[in-house]
Amino acid sequence: MRKSVIAGNWKMYKNVGDSVTTAVALKPLVANANHCEVVIAPVFTALKSVADRLEGSNIRVSAQNCATERAEGAFTGEVATFMLRDAGCSHVIVGHSERRQYFLETDQIVSQKTQAGLAAGLMVIVCVGETLEQRDQGKALDVVKGQIVGSLSGLTASDLDRIIIAYEPVWAIGTGRTATPEQAQEMHAFIRRVFAEGHSPAAAEALRILYGGSVKPDNIAGLMKQTDIDGALVGGASLSAESFAQIVNYK
Ligand code: PGA
Repeated sequence: MRKSVIAGNWKMYKNVGDSVTTAVALKPLVANANHCEVVIAPVFTALKSVADRLEGSNIRVSAQNCATERAEGAFTGEVATFMLRDAGCSHVIVGHSERRQYFLETDQIVSQKTQAGLAAGLMVIVCVGETLEQRDQGKALDVVKGQIVGSLSGLTASDLDRIIIAYEPVWAIGTGRTATPEQAQEMHAFIRRVFAEGHSPAAAEALRILYGGSVKPDNIAGLMKQTDIDGALVGGASLSAESFAQIVNYK
């Protein structure tokens, strides 16, 4: 039985004070959510303060990005995964479509970041997803397969249970347009097959695959009913403690 994961990606929103306020407000609202793992991903500058305030709670803290380099060094502007651990993170998100699109991250870069996250003992949430143009051209499955294979190259069997995949169709992110539960299910089942081929059927069976893209309190239940949807990566609707808690407590 896979334990689902509901993660809030705060993107470049909230200063330190607002991040702490939201995290503290969220704590009691999700305290009884034993059916899933709850994760929030504030901006880098708020990670330590948020993690300190959430100590002892059931909310885990994730970074939204990390350096490809594992050790400290002369890499201006970068943050290494061991530093994220040090700041209180247990997770890191890599390969978000905004990073692929605006910061030109390739599968090779995402793969290096995945490896760096694993090396530091983090759970790594690897994002994949096709654009609308790619879907309209009938290429969605091929694109996502390429991202999975490219972003997860070189993993060993012992790494696999620290990988979480987030399928986020680019056309559904921040647009209010969600994939239907059936569209999402089709892709999630496909991702699980690709993972089984690349690794093992047992690892694929245990893999958590999250859906992301305009997840809201009123569409989460329909998505979670699908066999291969094991949680959600939530952007806009995670910024308010109340709406994120409604998503977490969808049952
Ligand atoms: P959204 O973002 O929920 O605002 O569509 C999801 C994401 O980008 O992770």
